[in-house]
Amino acid sequence: MTEKRFDGRAAIVTGGALGIGGGTARRLAADGAKVLIVDVVKDAAEANSKRIRDAGGTAITMVGDVSQESVAKAMVERAVNEFGRLDFLVQNAYGGGADRAGSAVEVKHESWRSGMDLLVTALYLGAKYAVPAMEESGSAPGFTPGTWTGAGLRHGSPPNMNVGRIVNLSSVHGLLQAPRSLIYEAGKAAVIGLTRQMAIDFGPLGITVNAIAPGHIVTERGEAMWGEVGNEPGFKLFELQYPVRRTGVPEDIANGIAFLCSDEASFITGVVLPIDGGLSIQLQENIVMDVKDFVVENPGLRTHFDQGRGTSRH
Ligand SMILES: NC(=O)c1ccc[n+]([C@@H]2O[C@H](COP(=O)([O-])OP(=O)(O)OC[C@H]3O[C@@H](n4cnc5c(N)ncnc54)[C@H](O)[C@@H]3O)[C@@H](O)[C@H]2O)c1
Repeated sequence: MTEKRFDGRAAIVTGGALGIGGGTARRLAADGAKVLIVDVVKDAAEANSKRIRDAGGTAITMVGDVSQESVAKAMVERAVNEFGRLDFLVQNAYGGGADRAGSAVEVKHESWRSGMDLLVTALYLGAKYAVPAMEESGSAPGFTPGTWTGAGLRHGSPPNMNVGRIVNLSSVHGLLQAPRSLIYEAGKAAVIGLTRQMAIDFGPLGITVNAIAPGHIVTERGEAMWGEVGNEPGFKLFELQYPVRRTGVPEDIANGIAFLCSDEASFITGVVLPIDGGLSIQLQENIVMDVKDFVVENPGLRTHFDQGRGTSRH
């Protein structure tokens, strides 16, 4: 059998049933990792696990809300019990509701609390239990630090390397703000701060911690939303805002996450990697002027903004 880059390694993907998490679970498994999918939607989680196993990979499922400390603890125990170790934690789960939209004046305290629990607290809890398990597991199988080679000053023994990887899902909404989206925007910005702090704290252990900031990724749910409220010109208008002239698919994000999990990425930590087709580097006043002609030529276009659904995931 051909060797794969993650053979012998074990991963947890939260929210791994559908969307970006679903694609990430499949990507890591296709590269040889054993994957535990943790999700609140049992049927979809089991369907994705089965899809992975049918393709020759290893995947198991656990149902649970990752904003609960008992679930964060149990998912790490389950991965270690089933796979014998833990190498990767991808913290991706999110599900919002209409109550999450609004400014500080509009949102209810309870919505703020539940939003922050899932957007931020869950990531702290995941790391709290995963990091000791990664340390206990030690360097990834197949990785041998060997002797120091190459240019540069070397002092004593090599440091811990490739002991673990944590990848947290932020968003372009963590980098740029959209109106009346306090909870999601503040939560995704907090993910960036939390990621950088964890990178500092866990770097000496050989564990890297990075964040991904996806642009608009058309998932199963996104596809359904566009089908319901959009039309071709509306979707095209949305795509025109992207320098690469398309929106993303889960595989675009999964490929970035897999790279950050790889041994090749061992010197990358504390970064926020936008995977957004260039959306967040473009000057907005120009793009509005550039798409004006398209809007004028397509008076019947409809997007999800027309139903007040915006781009946020709240
Ligand atoms: N899709 C996008 O355009 C986009 C853009 C930027 C960032 N993101 C971020 O990427 C991540 C994934 O988004 P997506 O679009 O794939 O979402 P999605 O809704 O398609 O999938 C999210 C998954 O998380 C699960 N989930 C929800 N709440 C959970 C909980 N409490 N515990 C465990 N599982 C839970 C859902 O059941 C689902 O399987 C989120 O953090 C989201 O904020 C998405």
